Amino acid sequence: MTGASTAHLVLIGMMGSGKSSAAEGVAAARSMAWCDLDIEIERSAGRSVREIFAADGEAGFRDLERAALAEALASATPRVIAAGGGIVVTPESRALLRGAVCVYLRATIATLLRRLEHAEDRPLLDGDRAGVLSSLLEARSPLYDEVATAVVDVDDLDLAATVAAICATVEASC
Ligand code: S3P
Repeated sequence: MTGASTAHLVLIGMMGSGKSSAAEGVAAARSMAWCDLDIEIERSAGRSVREIFAADGEAGFRDLERAALAEALASATPRVIAAGGGIVVTPESRALLRGAVCVYLRATIATLLRRLEHAEDRPLLDGDRAGVLSSLLEARSPLYDEVATAVVDVDDLDLAATVAAICATVEASC
């Protein structure tokens, strides 16, 4: 364990930035619980993210995402929470994030494309992957910056180094 954990820690950033794996690693390092909001949404909806997008559209998914974030943040046990990449597009979710410790895992498009090479489960990436990622990153960058309490640049970091950097950032801000 690398430090005492008293608050929820939310990992934000684009698809492919490594939030889920890092959340699990940081939780292990800090003896915390962890969750992934996409998994929580799928569990409570009984449908995959892709099925939710197909049936209810992105707006329907964002409603479920906001509810899942509120529920995770309401937990009495401090958790590392891996948020979906689009959590910041919903104003109500940004308001919830402003009350939390939020680490932005920042990555370039080249890194995201490489890490998402074999990913087929993100409905927003159907089609021109590089083009979509570029426009999403451009639109979301200011929103990530708005809610982040710290930033970790992950381009040159493997999983272990990412986990260590997040833990160091959190400990420095305690
Ligand atoms: C999304 C990111 C995904 C998932 C959904 C939408 C986005 O989560 O929530 O496909 O809008 O960026 P990850 O960031 O964990 O891939």
